[in-house]
Amino acid sequence: MIYITGDCHGNFKRFSKDVFPEQKEMTKEDYVIICGDFGGIWDKGEESRTEKWWLDWLASKTFTTLFVDGNHENFDRLYSYPMEAWHGGNAHKIRDSVVHLMRGQVFDIDGKKIFTFGGASSHDIDGGILEPDDPQYKKRKKELDKGWLPYRINHHSWWAQELPSMEEMEEGLRNLATNGKSVDYIVSHCCASSTQVLLGGSTFKPDVLTDYFEELRQKVRFKKWFFGHYHDNVDVSAEEILLYEQIIRIS
Ligand SMILES: [Fe+2]
Repeated sequence: MIYITGDCHGNFKRFSKDVFPEQKEMTKEDYVIICGDFGGIWDKGEESRTEKWWLDWLASKTFTTLFVDGNHENFDRLYSYPMEAWHGGNAHKIRDSVVHLMRGQVFDIDGKKIFTFGGASSHDIDGGILEPDDPQYKKRKKELDKGWLPYRINHHSWWAQELPSMEEMEEGLRNLATNGKSVDYIVSHCCASSTQVLLGGSTFKPDVLTDYFEELRQKVRFKKWFFGHYHDNVDVSAEEILLYEQIIRIS
């Protein structure tokens, strides 16, 4: 079985037995995929007590938890976990059964080919990105707090790696070509530029990643494309499905 859901932001209560009773029938060979903004690796430094508790709680579940990265992840820490080959692609092992599916990979999961590519532009940065070692940092922060403008702090609540490198995008194209440009599912955090327009008109600006996805949308054959990021549950088209709190079965 494969189930899939949207952004968690470190809150995993939707996977409790009351909310998700299907887990009673699941084993570690069954999977729940999170479409980014996993949020279980967020605090500065090392795994905090709360984080460790929740990661161990996920690992203790009957099923295996998989996630692509979103924009709200602590990338400094996420990328420090051991990288391993897992089901045909590269992954970070957070726990034995809590696994980060890296960008540009094609995994073979439960007999399905799944292309994964996390990341997205943050939308909540109208006030900008503050640098903690900027001499003006305290002054700027005070001004922004006063003006109620959302801002983020580099390496504390925002990371440049929220958008992909050229190497990651090229690796994705190579792995798709190896698979005949055909997969069962695509799992990402944001979506193609034209899909963003269908979702929110001009609200969401295109970027290097949504443009990359636009190219994939034209060139790659896929049955369904699941994504998160926009905090809603919407069938945007017959193939593209935006998920938030809903957990749906796809295999
Ligand atoms: Fe989010």
